[in-house]
Amino acid sequence: MAARQGKSTGSGASEAEAADLLAWYDRHRRRLPWRALPGEIADPYRVWLSEIMLQQTTVAAVGPYFETFVTQWPSVEALASAPLDDVLRDWAGLGYYARARNLHACATVIAGERGGRFPQTEEELLKLPGIGAYTAGAIAAIAFDRPVAAVDGNVERVITRLYGIDEPMPGAKEAVRAKTGALVPADRPGDFAQGLMDLGATICTPKRPACVLCPWTDACVAHARGIEEQLPVKAPKKEKPLRRGAAFWAERGNGTVLIVKRPPKGLLGGMDGLWLTPLKQDTDPAEARSHAPFKARWHRIAGHVEHVFTHFRLELTVYTATDVTSFAAPDTRWVAKEDLPEVGLPTVMRKAAQHALRALHGPEAEKLVALRRRRVRTG
Ligand code: ADE
Repeated sequence: MAARQGKSTGSGASEAEAADLLAWYDRHRRRLPWRALPGEIADPYRVWLSEIMLQQTTVAAVGPYFETFVTQWPSVEALASAPLDDVLRDWAGLGYYARARNLHACATVIAGERGGRFPQTEEELLKLPGIGAYTAGAIAAIAFDRPVAAVDGNVERVITRLYGIDEPMPGAKEAVRAKTGALVPADRPGDFAQGLMDLGATICTPKRPACVLCPWTDACVAHARGIEEQLPVKAPKKEKPLRRGAAFWAERGNGTVLIVKRPPKGLLGGMDGLWLTPLKQDTDPAEARSHAPFKARWHRIAGHVEHVFTHFRLELTVYTATDVTSFAAPDTRWVAKEDLPEVGLPTVMRKAAQHALRALHGPEAEKLVALRRRRVRTG
């Protein structure tokens, strides 16, 4: 561990901290599918793709999606040429679907207007669809070794603890950003950014941080005060409002199911799923049937499906109709039950489909839409 005098107040101490983190990273860095190995040059396409996927999503959840995407679309040009519907289908299950639409829009700009090259500065990156402050910093640092800060929730935790910042979040965001920026070394800023991420994910965890293994134990103000688990201080979470609605599972005698492509804008924009009623604070169950795609003997399944979105919780009642003869409307199609895994259903739609399959065909049938890694199409 590098020598230091007192707590990190001057640039000398910051340099010592950066050096300690880099030395720790060299020994403990995680092997991640998008990460360049030591000595390799980072691929901006893989860095950008992974950072968009990792917004609001865990490393474990992203892994299989990342592999599917890079196998199918190995370059930004390939992704830009893909139909948006294919991208949405392979994004299904990752959530926050505006990210997938922006991903495709961003690929189109990079491939079409920038000769396939990503800009290298935060300022230019910020102008692209789907890239905010954190992502711009992460790409600039990791892909282009620019000495900039990339501050996400994990980094906020590490930095508030290191400096003992006890002002509640999100008020302390600017202070955390400034402190992180001051720590970034001129040499190996990309590894420093990734080291901070790994430290937050593996050592400086929300509960029971492994302080004895931390390269910053001696410098850490929260550790010295024994308050590491209390930081960062978070403003109390507002309860999410509840919305209710209904989903309609229509099945024909030949085993096909009605699938609807949602309008491009709004909740689950452009994604496939079941026919839904409008989602309101209170949907009267008696009224729900009036929003069904067509007149039939709609049977209400007991219980409901719950799902949490960013801004609200949703309770969906599911109605089924079987032996439907025929129906056609714009943006609808009939899909064989066995082919549903290929459709790319968002998680809430998958839950509704499972609810219907279980009720109609028994517990085994819900496996038809169980979350599983879809095969990568090769032609
Ligand atoms: N979380 C967000 N970006 C990350 C990255 N590049 N590596 C590890 N964890 C991350």
